[in-house]
Amino acid sequence: MPKIKFLPSGAEFVVMKGETILDVALANGVSIQHACGGFCACTTCHCEVIEGTENLEAPDKDELERLDVLDSRTPKSRLACQSKISGNVTVRVVNAE
Ligand code: FES
Repeated sequence: MPKIKFLPSGAEFVVMKGETILDVALANGVSIQHACGGFCACTTCHCEVIEGTENLEAPDKDELERLDVLDSRTPKSRLACQSKISGNVTVRVVNAE
């Protein structure tokens, strides 16, 4: 089973097939903003993928358009609600609640 590690806390969790970064965070009490409820309509769930980018489903057009408006975007940026996990990843939460 894949695992995800959240930074800065270092908390690790097992991931079920098809879960997003946001799904795992909310199910395990990891503090992360999600103003639109996970519908790719805001950018508050912004996170940076530190390791395992290849273990996330590629961003679709809608996610890329959202990321384009982020001033704080980096090459490692993803939206947690749109990022389905298929293998081990380490992510840094940008906007904790
Ligand atoms: S929660 Fe709004 S885009 Fe992810």
